Amino acid sequence: MKAASVLDYRELARRRLPHFLFEYIDGGSYAEVTLRRNVADLEAIALRQRVMRNVAKLQLVTELFGRRQSLPIGLAPVGLAGLNARRGEVQAARAAEAAGIPFCLSTVSACSIDEVRRHTRAPFWFQLYLIRDRGFMRELLTTAAEAGCSSLIFTVDMPLPGSRYRDYRSGLAGAPGIRGRLRRGWQAALRPSWAWDVGICGRPHSLGNLAPVLGAKTGLEDFFEWMRNNFDPSVTWDDLAFIRTQWAGPLIIKGILDPADAVAAADLGADGLVVSNHGGRQLDGVPSTAHALPAIAQAVGERMTVLADGGVRSGLDVVRMLALGADAVLLGRAWVYALAANGEAGVAHMLQLLEAEMRIAMALTGTVSVTDINTNILMNVRRDAIQPE
Ligand SMILES: Cc1cc2nc3c(=O)[nH]c(=O)nc-3n(C[C@H](O)[C@H](O)[C@H](O)COP(=O)(O)O)c2cc1C
Repeated sequence: MKAASVLDYRELARRRLPHFLFEYIDGGSYAEVTLRRNVADLEAIALRQRVMRNVAKLQLVTELFGRRQSLPIGLAPVGLAGLNARRGEVQAARAAEAAGIPFCLSTVSACSIDEVRRHTRAPFWFQLYLIRDRGFMRELLTTAAEAGCSSLIFTVDMPLPGSRYRDYRSGLAGAPGIRGRLRRGWQAALRPSWAWDVGICGRPHSLGNLAPVLGAKTGLEDFFEWMRNNFDPSVTWDDLAFIRTQWAGPLIIKGILDPADAVAAADLGADGLVVSNHGGRQLDGVPSTAHALPAIAQAVGERMTVLADGGVRSGLDVVRMLALGADAVLLGRAWVYALAANGEAGVAHMLQLLEAEMRIAMALTGTVSVTDINTNILMNVRRDAIQPE
């Protein structure tokens, strides 16, 4: 099957990955209400078709945090994404670099900051969680700065990890010791091309940035246990003020769903934020990002760069998010599906598909430049979602 869309890449990823890994990427927390809302609310937004507007020259180039990029898109931080293809984060970062868009490396990546730096030339972004061991956290920030990371995303919507039923059903969670390893090993054996590419050729598996603290422990259980014990749930706005003092470059707060929190982030000197519910993986039941975005853009759009993610599965969705007030959009699962299906080439192709879809959406809404995309191209956005009371 040749992929013609992000959803095709999802199907290819499902066929190629061991069951537990596909479920880990694809799933959301609890009953997955928010995960479904993210996708459904975007899909439900009708675009307003306009014709006869001379759309011969479409302008998709944009500028984020002082840097030009070819599309208003970035690759969101995704933990363990590197397990989906051999040295996966390196492949994705190279695809982003070739496409002229930023790649963001997660704290909990499979490849380290140094490994990604050695295999790329363009500066990438780094994502940070608040870690109890502030000394280790500062070391990570220093490494990121020395590697030339151009922006820092500070993710604030994971004081505690949400629970994902699918991970329990697949054997990724709740099956400790030999029982879990056998289950996952069996699932990997049923996917020989992944097992060869990642399991054998992708070695050594050192769990990226966590290698200094995990040492010889390289199992998935060690990794999740470290996350449970070391993410700091005492995180407050004071920590943001502290991180601001530690990071000189652009600082982006990720995981904002409420205008009051957006204003607090702006007041503390953040340069940008990501309207995000962690792809429906944290608090199930919160609104979709498409629903939350307009009020946040209204509250802080003049003061800071507003990014958004969640449920973006096509170039049309990118355009919808821009129309709702985002300056640019982050892709989460979309790039991981493409990476799992076909590595660097898959991510590069998926980005081409999205660009082509964006061009169609712009041409038939009569919008020549991405910077001109606004609510005028939408048919049915609720006014109360745009104008907070
Ligand atoms: C498997 C997986 C792992 C993730 N890991 C991280 C992470 O380490 N740090 C982070 O800030 N966000 C993480 N996210 C959230 C993404 O950055 C992004 O907010 C989300 O995927 C957007 O939704 P979408 O997948 O529907 O595009 C993760 C998402 C997924 C699907």
